Amino acid sequence: MSELDGKRFFITGSAAGIGRGIAELAISRGARVVISDLDGDAARRTADEIGATGVSNCDVTNEDEVVNAVNTAEELLGGIDVLVNNAGIEIAAPLAEQTTESFDRIFAVNVRGPFVATKAAVPALSRSAGNIVNIPSIAGIGGSPLLGSYCASKAALIQLTRVAAVELRSVGIRVNAVCPGFADTTMVDRLRPEFEAATAVPFADLVAAQQGRLGTAQDIAEVACFLASDRASWVTGSHYVLDGGLTASLI
Ligand SMILES: NC(=O)c1ccc[n+]([C@@H]2O[C@H](COP(=O)([O-])OP(=O)(O)OC[C@H]3O[C@@H](n4cnc5c(N)ncnc54)[C@H](O)[C@@H]3O)[C@@H](O)[C@H]2O)c1
Repeated sequence: MSELDGKRFFITGSAAGIGRGIAELAISRGARVVISDLDGDAARRTADEIGATGVSNCDVTNEDEVVNAVNTAEELLGGIDVLVNNAGIEIAAPLAEQTTESFDRIFAVNVRGPFVATKAAVPALSRSAGNIVNIPSIAGIGGSPLLGSYCASKAALIQLTRVAAVELRSVGIRVNAVCPGFADTTMVDRLRPEFEAATAVPFADLVAAQQGRLGTAQDIAEVACFLASDRASWVTGSHYVLDGGLTASLI
């Protein structure tokens, strides 16, 4: 018997990167997964490649789409045991140069998205005594140049995790978070030149010095799948830091 046998996952932003990694690992451990993304073509391709049960797309900034996608996923799977709030975006800019529109966009995806998806999934998760895994970032714990609005949004998601865990304990729903450091996805590909320009240090050197190596989607999926499993039945309201020691270091 595999660790996630019979578990039914709905994962936002899972056409690529960390979300796809969580979907793949969950399926390999016996789960059934519905992929969801803004990019419908990529979601379909990923679902076919990894053997997902289906696709139910939404833009997490659109509440009606999120509610429909959660309901469709529940129909496809016959219930939902795990919601993974993974969809997120970055915009790199010094705070003083950031537009209010881009600040609002980051919060709409990274904070309001998980809030809306959580609300939409609570009825299904109450029926299954399920759980939620949020994906904030170490940027929600420490400050990083260029990522002011992203850092603020990820700190907000850690707080949403805590409050949801406390409020939903009485209906049997656990809520946890995984906070990765830099991981090898297209998000980091986009950030790499911005950091190099701002610090005048090759990004590879920064990563080697601060966290040993880039994380992988699999590194993050391992912990997300543990939190989603019954092995973590007394774990709720927690955030797990996965960063090769970056946040543990003062220098
Ligand atoms: N890569 C990292 O180093 C890193 C580190 C810490 C936290 N994170 C977080 O992990 C999550 C996944 O990041 P990633 O690196 O895989 O990113 P990515 O950009 O590689 O992939 C993100 C996926 O989310 C989808 N998406 C974007 N906006 C969406 C929206 N509004 N609605 C639905 N789907 C949307 C994209 O189409 C894409 O498929 C994000 O929340 C990110 O903030 C990433």
